[in-house]
Order: sequence, then structure tokens, then C-alpha cells
Amino acid sequence: MSRALDYLLRERPRAMGAYFEFLRDAGSRLDPRTRALISVITKVSTQTEKGLVQYTRKALAAGVSSEEILDALLAAFPALGLSRIVWAVDVLMDHGVAGFGAAPAEEDDDVEAELIDVAGLDELPQGRAVKRGGPGRAMLLYREGDEVRAFKAYCTHHGMELMERGIDGDTVTCHQHGWQFSLPAGSCPRGAQWALVGLPVAIENGRVRVTWQGR
Ligand code: FES
Repeated sequence: MSRALDYLLRERPRAMGAYFEFLRDAGSRLDPRTRALISVITKVSTQTEKGLVQYTRKALAAGVSSEEILDALLAAFPALGLSRIVWAVDVLMDHGVAGFGAAPAEEDDDVEAELIDVAGLDELPQGRAVKRGGPGRAMLLYREGDEVRAFKAYCTHHGMELMERGIDGDTVTCHQHGWQFSLPAGSCPRGAQWALVGLPVAIENGRVRVTWQGR
């Protein structure tokens, strides 16, 4: 419950108690999934960002799928209108709510793999991420001993380029919405589906060569 509701409940226990009793009774004949969906729609209607994220996560935990939440949003179109629906999807994507991600990057078979000579092995520091590459080919490298791992330096949230200033040892933070990635695994605490895209690495004659795949 929000701090404001806590306060109101404390200051006006009879009125607010009756309100909550009303809500409990009003939903008592509905199954939990339907109740959860209605709660999500009310948060969209009032454009309450924190509540929308909280109640969407509750709905998912109650067994409602992200597809069903989308259906409910669209079914409520006459009341919500397109702008609130778009607002809601933006909020859910920005908060990384499960099932509301950016479209996975499409692998384009027409784009040929490109071999890029990125650095001498000895130029790379041990045990921390560094950024290399050029426009459209930014990558993160991480050296451990004589092994190097490489990832596309593009955030898996909305595809922003990950900046040098976002690197702190083995952690990379996206400046856009603060998502974090850990190297050398390239993992994201929000889930395996959000891990950085890895790139094949070959070390030849002391040079680190990365094969860039896709766009
Ligand atoms: S683009 Fe949103 S966190 Fe990176």
C-alpha cells in the first residue's frame, strides 16, 4: 500500500476502512486472475506508474500471461484510448516487466559476418571490461588470462549503445534506464533473455579478432 493510503487509513479509519471493505466485496465473486486484470486496467486508467508495475507483476504472479494483459489493455480501448495504452506498454517495457521486452534483434541472413581486428592481446587489461570497435560495431571485451570474451555493446532493453562511462570493473550500466550487465558472462540480473549478445573471438599471433554477426 502507498504511504498516502497508509496515512488516510490512519487518519480516517472509518471512511477508508469502508472503502477497502467495499473493494473486497466488489471483487469477491471474481476469480483472482480477473481481479488482477481489473486492477491493472484501473492503474492504466489513472496513469499510476508505480501501481501499474506493481499490479502487473502481481497479475503475472497470479498466473495471468503478458498476452492476456495486452488483450485486456486493448479490450479497454474505449475507456483508455490509445495514448494511455501506449503509456502503459512504455512503462512496462521501461521497468523490464517480464513479457514486455523489446523485440529480439533479428538475425539477418543477408548480412555477412565481418572479422574485426580489435586489439593486441597484451593491450587488454585483465579482469575488467573495456569498450572497443567503431560506429555500429561497438563491443565490450573482457580478458581473463589469455582468454577474451566479446559482446555487442548495445543494451538489450531498447538497444542503446553502452557507454565507456558506464563501465565499472566487471559491471556495465546503461545510461538510459540503468540496466546492468555483468562480465565476463554478459548476464543481466533481470533474466537470461536479457543477456548481452556474445560474439565469437579468435586470438591469432597475439591479435584479438572478433567475428561480428548480424547488424
Ligand atoms: S535502453 Fe533502457 S536500460 Fe538500456
